[in-house]
Amino acid sequence: MMESIRKHIASPEQKLLQTFVCEGCHQYVSQTELIIPSGPRAGERVVANYGCRCEDIKLAEAAIQKQDHLKQGQRKHNFNYYSLINNSLREATLENFHASDSELKQFKEKALAYIQSFDGKQNLLFTGNYGTGKSHLSVSITKKLMEQGYKCLFLSLPKLLTKIKQTYNTKGVTEDELLEEIRRVDLLALDDIGAEQQTDWTTSKLFEILDDRTGKATIYTTNLTSAALKEHMNERNFSRMMDNTNVIVMNGSDYRRRSF
Ligand SMILES: Nc1ncnc2c1ncn2[C@@H]1O[C@H](COP(=O)(O)OP(=O)(O)O)[C@@H](O)[C@H]1O
Ligand SMILES: [Mg+2]
Ligand SMILES: [Zn+2]
Repeated sequence: MMESIRKHIASPEQKLLQTFVCEGCHQYVSQTELIIPSGPRAGERVVANYGCRCEDIKLAEAAIQKQDHLKQGQRKHNFNYYSLINNSLREATLENFHASDSELKQFKEKALAYIQSFDGKQNLLFTGNYGTGKSHLSVSITKKLMEQGYKCLFLSLPKLLTKIKQTYNTKGVTEDELLEEIRRVDLLALDDIGAEQQTDWTTSKLFEILDDRTGKATIYTTNLTSAALKEHMNERNFSRMMDNTNVIVMNGSDYRRRSF
């Protein structure tokens, strides 16, 4: 009696129905009918696909998706946590950039082209007078690339330099932490170059930042003309900035005054 039960559990009655290659997992599958040997469902016939890995793959994919979701959250968190950005630009996106004339359409298309051909190396310099949407487009680019999985950071240069000075004697994000984040990101937007008060200290800080990011993509914006920019900063910083950099000149009317 014991003998026959044991034999039964060890090898439930089974019948090979068919073998095929599963379309889902591309594994060789033996479809088998077996009879549940014991328990509340004893005697029930079930069909099992031995060799099929579809369930495993589904579980693994779900885990990866969850991981991606977490990473995306982490990228957004870091962007919001470390970026130094004016409130008026927080909501700026490519979608809410009004391209009411052909020139503005062209700027928007250039921003799109930069996103589409992003290689992690090419730099952009937006130059032109005040209020023409240079910073708006820079923020928009970082947001889009962040959605595509790149780590991005937006820093107003005057704010950054003030912040670094402050962290010498206050708690919060330290200079080292901020410089580490600057080094880490795939794309840095450095906003409002030329608006900072220029001293030997700011010049060497800027050099440190640019030097740390050699070979990585940066978007610069400035209200200065390139001649004035060259004048404003030292030769070394200027040539570093212009290395592998596309210049987009955005002269036009101040967006905030356009409606008046
Ligand atoms: N074409 C545009 N569509 C929508 N908002 C704009 C546009 N251009 C500028 N703005 C808004 O106007 C303000 C000034 O633009 P900003 O990008 O900061 O100018 P710039 O950096 O060229 O001095 C920002 O709040 C920005 O969001
Ligand atoms: Mg600006
Ligand atoms: Zn399968």
